[in-house]
Amino acid sequence: MTNMLKGKKIVLGITGSIAAYKACYIIRGLIKKGAEVQVVITPAGKEFITPITLSALTSKPVISEFFAQRDGTWNSHVDIGLWADAMLIAPATASTIGKMAHGVADNMLITTYLSMKAPVFVAPAMDLDMYAHPSTQANLDRLRSWGNHIIEPGTGELASHLVGKGRMEEPENIILCLEEYFAGRGGDLLGKTVLITAGPTYEKIDPVRFIGNYSSGKMGIAIADECAARGAKVILVSGPMLQVTHFPMYRHCRVESAAEMYDASVAAFAEADAAIMTAAVADYTPAHVEMEKMKREKTGDLLLALKPTRDIAASLGELKRKDERKVLVGFALETNDETWNAKDKLMRKNLDFIVLNSLKDEGAGFRCDTNKISIIDHKGKNDYPLKPKTEVAEDIVDRLVEVLKNKS
Ligand code: CTP
Repeated sequence: MTNMLKGKKIVLGITGSIAAYKACYIIRGLIKKGAEVQVVITPAGKEFITPITLSALTSKPVISEFFAQRDGTWNSHVDIGLWADAMLIAPATASTIGKMAHGVADNMLITTYLSMKAPVFVAPAMDLDMYAHPSTQANLDRLRSWGNHIIEPGTGELASHLVGKGRMEEPENIILCLEEYFAGRGGDLLGKTVLITAGPTYEKIDPVRFIGNYSSGKMGIAIADECAARGAKVILVSGPMLQVTHFPMYRHCRVESAAEMYDASVAAFAEADAAIMTAAVADYTPAHVEMEKMKREKTGDLLLALKPTRDIAASLGELKRKDERKVLVGFALETNDETWNAKDKLMRKNLDFIVLNSLKDEGAGFRCDTNKISIIDHKGKNDYPLKPKTEVAEDIVDRLVEVLKNKS
């Protein structure tokens, strides 16, 4: 992913929450990406983490008091407000959120917030009851209505499953929110909506069994993250997978079967400028789903009757004929006659280009973190070297941007 934080000036507001220690990880992550960080901490924040630790990490004195020394020099919140490219308040307690919502400027963090000219991001951190309280929710709504970005606890997909709302979002996801924001400014997919299908599908046999495949969804997520980082609105339609996405502004539609993926994808394609079909969709599904768990038969083989599923990519290809400004990208995972098969799919499904990976290549395909691809379009074939999937995603999205440009 292109580094969007390089040279960015970030004011990090820290308040009195047990999650204050996580601010260290946020600082480390931001600095690693080339950002400059100025910490402003509340008096309660200092009870949880020392300014010495924070200034060592940021290589800047920490600001906490209105007056720097007893000699009358004072910290100018106005100057900080002008200096910053973004302000991030993490962790933000219920008390600080309340003060921000009502202009109670009794500490340096709130005065800085009130003088801030840059976008403000708020990562709440508190226990579940405090977070759910109407007072906290009303204050957050108020901040939202002024254009502040609330990084809700559990924004990361994994977090939403594992922890209760209220706990601060993980540092790496908070950093991704900032990256996404900066990418949105000047990203080459700004204003575009991209539909991405990812992962396997599960075709139900009975209440406890299914037919599935080994797709991890990693390639799809890498492409979705890359599109979001470049400013696209992403609609991710995913089959069952463990893979997580960190970008908060995804529209994520989780499905299980090929039929559900078909419905979700056709609906989303209507508003999409482009669709990238990375999902490993089952070609067949059981003709009948047993309502009860199937029993082991005493003798003989078990024969399962299967019926074909609908081809999602081909259906979108048909829909595309009504609007050829849309871009449709397919994937082909082949074991033999790779190029011929891929070209056949390119034509049959009315794709703009197809990404071919061969299972013959070591380190390519399912469950790997790397991939080796060729991109085939109506003019020819480009081969790329073995790379991490995140970099492969950049190559694919570069090509997508090029095709979108040529069509506009
Ligand atoms: N695809 C799809 N819906 C299906 C089957 C495939 O959208 N029911 C998409 C895949 O996401 C991929 C492309 O079509 O982008 C090619 O998938 P693949 O399984 O290789 O192609 P099939 O057409 O199923 O051909 P075959 O299984 O015969 O190789």
